[in-house]
Amino acid sequence: MSAEMLLEIRGLSKSYSGVRVLNSVSLSVRKGSVTGLIGENGAGKSTLIKCINGVTRPDAGEILFAGETLRRTTIESALRRGIVTIPQEFNLANEMTVRENIFLGHELKHGGVFLNHSAMRKRTAELLERLESRISPDAEVSTLSIAEKQIVEIARALNRACRLLIMDEPSTVLNPPEVENLFRIMRAMRGDGISIIYVSHKLNEVKTVCDTVAVLRDGEFVCEKPTAELTARDMASLMVGRELSRIFPPKPAPPAEDAPPALELDGVTLEKLVHHASLKLHRGEILGLAGLGGSGRTELAEAVYGIRKTVSGRILVNGREVRIHSPAQAVASGIAYLTEDRQSSGIIQTFPLAWNCSLISLRKYCLASFIRKKKENAAAEEYIRRFRIKTNSGATPIGELSGGNQQKGAIAKSLDHSPEIFIFDEPTRGIDIKSRGDIYSFIGELARRGMACLIISSDLEEVIGLCRKVAVMRGGTVAGILEDEHVNEKEIMYLATGVK
Ligand SMILES: Nc1ncnc2c1ncn2[C@@H]1O[C@H](COP(=O)(O)OP(=O)(O)OP(=O)(O)O)[C@@H](O)[C@H]1O
Ligand SMILES: [Mg+2]
Repeated sequence: MSAEMLLEIRGLSKSYSGVRVLNSVSLSVRKGSVTGLIGENGAGKSTLIKCINGVTRPDAGEILFAGETLRRTTIESALRRGIVTIPQEFNLANEMTVRENIFLGHELKHGGVFLNHSAMRKRTAELLERLESRISPDAEVSTLSIAEKQIVEIARALNRACRLLIMDEPSTVLNPPEVENLFRIMRAMRGDGISIIYVSHKLNEVKTVCDTVAVLRDGEFVCEKPTAELTARDMASLMVGRELSRIFPPKPAPPAEDAPPALELDGVTLEKLVHHASLKLHRGEILGLAGLGGSGRTELAEAVYGIRKTVSGRILVNGREVRIHSPAQAVASGIAYLTEDRQSSGIIQTFPLAWNCSLISLRKYCLASFIRKKKENAAAEEYIRRFRIKTNSGATPIGELSGGNQQKGAIAKSLDHSPEIFIFDEPTRGIDIKSRGDIYSFIGELARRGMACLIISSDLEEVIGLCRKVAVMRGGTVAGILEDEHVNEKEIMYLATGVK
């Protein structure tokens, strides 16, 4: 192993219940470099990472780290060597504070015995400041948004002495300024000689921040190349094994002037975070809802879905005012909601994929008090085919699927009760570029059939590519609505931040 290498992987293989997930993968990471790791959903990226950081053990192959062969790596021994991971699915204790999470397992103590709360609070505040975040060290994690949870995971990783930082999709729900900030920190770490492995489906980001790119396809290593030699398009072709065509469907025509909106929000106000938010969503429309983290987008969606209480304002469905106090009432009004955080409110990890798909729509599959399993399974098989969910069958617990494939399952779940109004919150979080195209054309098809779609997304490319009209939130209210040629990055960010 040459002196400039930190990590070298040779011939690594791993199977789960007889199915080969990694097949003799080799990869090397230079000291003080950023390596992008890309591949379709289920290609084996997270599994490769879990072999390096001791979460799972490979069946064959060799891992050399700083000149030493790693054997029987455990999470603890990897951490001691300075291998720190930001996992794809967050690993935070929801009932504990930000500070407690950041120091969990390696608390600072006075005289080795008593917890030194003030030192931990101070250090947490410093870390959060470095990340330019306004999260309070004493906030309980359960009260944070998903983007804020991601920041806490990053802060926790930065708090460990680190030689190799592995980031498994750290930017999936971050906004452009938050991503910029993350890149700034990554570059500073690289300057300090730390190596980074960066997994992402946002190929433009990989292009921006990585020195080299390694590609996995179906558990096989395809190639490793300097980023400078590749465009984002080249990366997509290497991942998929062929050229990809345009991924966005044609935008639907503007709705007829006289039609009443399928969903109208009129001055909706919540106790906190949302004030006098108004917007109209028509049948057949794909309306974007953009804004920075904390601007109230998710809170507004949650109010429409009956998870949060409104203090004033009206919600109208097809021109009639509705009172929604629970998700069940929202579903009865024809509203579906795909939550941004599938881990805490989207799906049940230990349930088979098929059960997750019918979670909301179970009544459809019942005859008296029996669940018609055949019908339920057939529906799941249809989603597996349609979204190309990578799994053996609908009987697989959804927790065993790769991150992106879990997200596809969450979409199937919210669609299965045939809603009229669909609110998607970060729909393509963690989904690879090819499957993203499938989901976009699916949304396009739903709109053509008359469904009213609201797309909340931090991914501006997605909002701009999919929506003819975009509402932008700032400080809890709708700061402006952009249409047609005004739907561009500059005008969206202007409304979102209030600065030119
Ligand atoms: N604990 C497990 N039990 C069984 N199969 C598993 C388990 N973990 C992963 N797999 C399978 O291994 C394959 C690779 O999964 P992995 O999570 O490594 O993919 P990935 O490249 O990270 O995808 P994504 O982009 O969706 O996160 C998938 O087909 C997945 O179903
Ligand atoms: Mg993964």
